[in-house]
Amino acid sequence: YKMRVIKGKDYKDMSRKAANIISAEIITKPDCVLGLATGSSPIGIYENLVHWYEQDDLDFSQVTSVNLDEYKGLPKENDQSYDYFMHEYLFNKVNIKPENINIPNGMEEDSEKECARYNQVLEDLGGVDLQLLGIGHNGHIGFNEPGEAFEKETHCVDLTESTINANKRFFEKEEDVPRQAYTMGIKSIMKAKKILLIISGKEKAGIVKEAFFGPVTPKVPASILQLHNDVILVADADALSEV
Ligand code: GLP
Repeated sequence: YKMRVIKGKDYKDMSRKAANIISAEIITKPDCVLGLATGSSPIGIYENLVHWYEQDDLDFSQVTSVNLDEYKGLPKENDQSYDYFMHEYLFNKVNIKPENINIPNGMEEDSEKECARYNQVLEDLGGVDLQLLGIGHNGHIGFNEPGEAFEKETHCVDLTESTINANKRFFEKEEDVPRQAYTMGIKSIMKAKKILLIISGKEKAGIVKEAFFGPVTPKVPASILQLHNDVILVADADALSEV
């Protein structure tokens, strides 16, 4: 069982430890391709990266980013879009070049067209060096929801009730939560050279046990990471409290 586990005392400690791993990637490979993620879990990581950039310890000028997912139907200007999130927490605060930023276009109504475009983006990049991942309460990664089979490439998903419920806290009304999203597929995620998984909080302790200490099954999408040969799980003590 190959997954390396780094335990942080709390969210702050975990965020710094995980940010150090991304920082090491950028320093050793200045033109690396970073697969990036949204959600509340990576916010602390981005804060550290911005801080180190401001101290002149990090340079994003040759970095390319490719985000996992985006809500379908939310314009970039909507503060709940992942495009907005990434600019707010990272892109507007470091020297990454706008032309090196890749995020699915949630405003493209034609799913087939947008998925094909994003798959082409991934192919042209020639592989992700380091993929950052959080995990949903139901074991989703990106927006790969539990299902009967692992979805391979970029696709449009119908979000589950569990995900809509978990994410409604960010919206004014539950009806405002988009019902669909574009997400990179499991095959695209698994192709990354390295995967950095971050998990924080007591409410994720159950899914940590299920996903990484239970069977590999599309019913728990994150469980596939057991089969990747370079995964680092950085988690706080609460998230690891059941294993
Ligand atoms: C969202 C994102 C995922 C993220 C998950 C967990 O649904 N699509 O990429 O990992 O939520 O979010 P949080 O870190 O806020 O618990």
